[in-house]
Amino acid sequence: MFTRIYRSPKLSGWLLFILLPALLNSCTTQPNAVTADASRGYTAGQAMVVSAHPEASRVGMEIMRKGGNAYDATVATQFALAVVFPVAGNIGGGGFTVFRNADGKIGSIDYRETAPLRATETMYQNNNADVIAGLSTDGHLAAGVPGTVDGMVNLHQKLGSLPWAELVQPAIDLARHGVILTEKEAVGLNTTREAFLKNNNHKPYLVKESEWKAGDTLRHAALARTLERIRDKGREGFYAGETANLLVQEMERGNGIISHQDLAAYTSVWREPVTGTYKNYKVISMAPPSSGGIALLQLLTMVEPYNLSKYGWQSAEAIQVITEAERRVYADRATYLGDPDFVSVPQNELLDKGYLQNRMHTMQLQKATPSAEVAAGTLPMYESEQTTHFSIVDPAGNAVSTTTTLNGSYGSKVMVAGAGFILNNEMDDFSTKPGVPNMYGLVGNAANAIAPGKRMLSSMTPTILEKDGKLFMVVGTPGGSTIITSVFQAIINVLEHNMSMQQAVAAPRFHHQWLPDVVQYEPDAIVPGVQTILKSRGYNLEVRKPYGRIDAILVLPDGRLEAGADPRGDDAAAGF
Ligand code: DON
Repeated sequence: MFTRIYRSPKLSGWLLFILLPALLNSCTTQPNAVTADASRGYTAGQAMVVSAHPEASRVGMEIMRKGGNAYDATVATQFALAVVFPVAGNIGGGGFTVFRNADGKIGSIDYRETAPLRATETMYQNNNADVIAGLSTDGHLAAGVPGTVDGMVNLHQKLGSLPWAELVQPAIDLARHGVILTEKEAVGLNTTREAFLKNNNHKPYLVKESEWKAGDTLRHAALARTLERIRDKGREGFYAGETANLLVQEMERGNGIISHQDLAAYTSVWREPVTGTYKNYKVISMAPPSSGGIALLQLLTMVEPYNLSKYGWQSAEAIQVITEAERRVYADRATYLGDPDFVSVPQNELLDKGYLQNRMHTMQLQKATPSAEVAAGTLPMYESEQTTHFSIVDPAGNAVSTTTTLNGSYGSKVMVAGAGFILNNEMDDFSTKPGVPNMYGLVGNAANAIAPGKRMLSSMTPTILEKDGKLFMVVGTPGGSTIITSVFQAIINVLEHNMSMQQAVAAPRFHHQWLPDVVQYEPDAIVPGVQTILKSRGYNLEVRKPYGRIDAILVLPDGRLEAGADPRGDDAAAGF
């Protein structure tokens, strides 16, 4: 059978294509919508993997060619990403997987990191109760107890079909033979060089005497040995024995607090996904401890009464409606959301249609609502820059949406000596002090305070859409606080603006998160005429570098699968 691996074209090409109508019209205020079917992404007839790296997509696709299902492919792709995409792919981090079986059954698994048992609410504050800069983001104390390996083991035990060893082996082969670096990866490693040296008592093998260059081969010998232990012993290959010893020794050298007890106690959790509807689509996404599913459904419900397609893509009115919904949703996020095993999350109230429509009553198209005037809503009856996403559909029609992370690029920058993997800096996703922004500018409160064994609040939004009871879309992205709004815009681009999956993924985006009170936008996301209107209506605008790497799959009316592989990265689709 012929195998195709598709790399997404450069962003500039897509930008020109998508924006041409808008740019031609930039003296007016109404960008045109992109015409349907003008350009599809790569399509495949039966099965597809879209991920951050062509080698990881290839590995997942080959597992399905061998007869493995989408869950087997998820495990293989996840381990491959830990090798070929060390900036975010991981065994030292955590994540979420949302799935929909071909028979319509849905579910999700949460393998989010936990705060170590010795963590305390004020562990990142000094004696004056000031947050110590960098302590929750870099070095050994920044790491939460990793969940990825336990998550993959449990996913495989419940839903996999091929033997475990066959799913881990491709990653071992990649680690031993080495991976050819792309330009982006070489730059990423070079710019992190000093941080690697600063945060380790040894010299991680990701640091080279001279600069890394595109085309260099990076081999991962120690990581290959760790993966072999995981291949042979499953969960015990990571949370016990040699890997656990190396991790705890690393902690002891660097004054970290993850212990053998933490590793033994870690368990991933099967959770009911959050579900809701937008028009005639069913949306299935991740429940707390991710804020992603609730926030995405809140956004979709809030904008549903507005005619976004009539307003036009990136028109002033569409941007206003979306921005006003976003600021209200992120205010709720900061107040109400946290680990449901520790705090009571008012999920039903937050998703109540009446509540959400009421929240939008204060919005007006004449002028912005300042964030200072927006707080979390009063709920009826309530008592109390790295990640990576991949989307998979198998020949039977099972769909898996996985977002996994080390948090920042290369996480805490701490590499476990002798074990060859990097630890996350996920502790920064907790609220280190009420109201103090984290590395993504997000603020939080008691609901997301640190406590031993608790999971830090996430924005990861692995999502699946159904239309008329059938699989329609698999979507997700990295991007910290922007994850939710990026997934939201990709969905709206397809549903309301008639874009193909590839266009929807490539289209420039904007973002508002309540605080700071700014509409951040990618270059070309808002045409100059619309910028003028928005400013005159009281919006603060700020251009920012391209963000997010959406990897998505759309089921076309004839049953073929269309990839959306984000041109902002080296993302690639593979299928047959
Ligand atoms: O769980 C979260 O929300 C964050 N740790 C995600 C971080 C992220 O997406 C970084 N990527 N650019």
